[in-house]
Amino acid sequence: MKYALITGASKGIGKAMAEILASKKNNLLLVARSADLLEALAQTLKKQYQIEADWLSVDFTEAGAANKIHQWCLNKNYSLDILINNAGYGLSGPFENYSAKEHTDMMQVNMNVLVELCSLFLPDLKTAQKSHILNIASSAAYQAVPGLSLYAASKAFVLSFGRGLQYELRHTNVRVTTICPGGTETDFANRANLNEKARKAGEKLNMSANEVARIAIDTMLAGKTEKITGFINQLGAAFVWLLPKILVEKTAAGIYSQD
Ligand SMILES: NC(=O)c1ccc[n+]([C@@H]2O[C@H](COP(=O)([O-])OP(=O)(O)OC[C@H]3O[C@@H](n4cnc5c(N)ncnc54)[C@H](OP(=O)(O)O)[C@@H]3O)[C@@H](O)[C@H]2O)c1
Repeated sequence: MKYALITGASKGIGKAMAEILASKKNNLLLVARSADLLEALAQTLKKQYQIEADWLSVDFTEAGAANKIHQWCLNKNYSLDILINNAGYGLSGPFENYSAKEHTDMMQVNMNVLVELCSLFLPDLKTAQKSHILNIASSAAYQAVPGLSLYAASKAFVLSFGRGLQYELRHTNVRVTTICPGGTETDFANRANLNEKARKAGEKLNMSANEVARIAIDTMLAGKTEKITGFINQLGAAFVWLLPKILVEKTAAGIYSQD
């Protein structure tokens, strides 16, 4: 029996992806910090879709988080054919406003645990007939974003790593997909403490978590390497590529910088 493991499955895009995979009869392993939300989601999806579902509460900023997840799977005999690295968050405002620990905690969640999970689960994923790694980056991966500088850099890392890994694994049974959502209606804005201007700009353009999750799962199952969600976000990335970097950065700073 195979499972899809989803990090950041308690809410937002991760929860929506869990619901879609459950509706396709995938067994699920749900991981995040919020035990109550994970337990409720696992129970609901088990009943609704007659699948197997289990959950594990882990804080990715704690040492050994990825090993804890891997060991849990080994102990319970859970084998994966889908690994979805979705957990992540931003910290908005000037870089200097946050401590070094706050910065490295975010890098731990957005980057390090993602890499560790890919590394730890790759041998298992290779035993399936066909398997997938799906990493959630961001449209911020395509440019520097003053006011979300480290977050954007962490997502550029996710995109570059995912593309490189896909190439390395191209002759294997494992496909690596990177999804780059633009603004999406989730708890992201609250957690990142986005300013009013950024929230207002988002109100008009945000996609729903369900829409983004649907695109992510379809793109993964089609075995594609990279996708920006939504036409407006794709257009945005094309402009970023065409325009001088300083102009792109000034525009982003006008939205995200709180100074
Ligand atoms: N929403 C957007 O506008 C947007 C745009 C581009 C990319 N993204 C990316 O999409 C992904 C999902 O975010 P979302 O928009 O769905 O936001 P969200 O609703 O805030 O969900 C974030 C998920 O990450 C988990 N998480 C956060 N910190 C964690 C930690 N320390 N340890 C373990 N899990 C942790 C959260 O679970 P707990 O709180 O229960 O731990 C939650 O399940 C993220 O990688 C984000 O960067 C979002």
